[in-house]
Amino acid sequence: MEKVPEHIAIIMDGNGRWAKAHGRPRIMGHRAGADALDRVMHYCKDVGIKYLTVYAFSTENWKRSDEEVSGLMRLLSRYIRTKEKQLVKDGVRFRVIGRRTDLSEKLQREIAALEEKTKGGEFTLLVALSYGGRDEIVRAALKFAAKGLDALGRLDDLEGAFSECMDAPDVPDPDLIIRTSGELRTSNFLLWESAYSEYYFTDVLWPDFGRDEFDKALASYATRERRKGGRLK
Ligand code: FPP
Repeated sequence: MEKVPEHIAIIMDGNGRWAKAHGRPRIMGHRAGADALDRVMHYCKDVGIKYLTVYAFSTENWKRSDEEVSGLMRLLSRYIRTKEKQLVKDGVRFRVIGRRTDLSEKLQREIAALEEKTKGGEFTLLVALSYGGRDEIVRAALKFAAKGLDALGRLDDLEGAFSECMDAPDVPDPDLIIRTSGELRTSNFLLWESAYSEYYFTDVLWPDFGRDEFDKALASYATRERRKGGRLK
């Protein structure tokens, strides 16, 4: 494979439709989605991708039924508690972006412990939780304003100074963003970081996303000419 992205981000959409198609409760779709995430993380490592960001729970998702929200929170908590050994063994660094203070204190503690235990991993899995792109920008603006004169010392690179206030400032912007299940929207995902990202949309529902579809997304990415507003060399 000639041109491999360094950072892929995924809007894991279609879990509910997958569950419906299989005559099962929605939470079973999310469980199948968590299995798909494990598979895709392995494909990423296999081809040399260094960062994977996934949209697991948006700031809007709190409006879903209590049953679905608590089911998703339990699924996340179980994922964090049961995957520790595997993540450490596989060299995966686990990190969370988003408004983590919206989560229960127990879940926040579990996240912080897993982040600490996996911090030596050379592959990074970023999980967006209670995440909204506008929300991240607004929180960054507050941090930026609080820096005051420090930021003014960098008038030559205000975008760089602002970027440092985002949730994962050390992580390069995503090269490729994938959205499954046929929706053609960005849905408030990584608004600041996606300025020059390539997009790949597929009708496949997230729990069905497999190696073939992953390879198709990478092949499509490899054909793109990324000029970032500049001239083609
Ligand atoms: C969108 O599908 C998916 C979500 C809102 C949740 C995604 C969460 C997971 C895959 C859980 C696993 C994550 C981790 C880190 C363990 P949808 O419910 O909107 O599907 P629909 O549009 O078909 O109803």
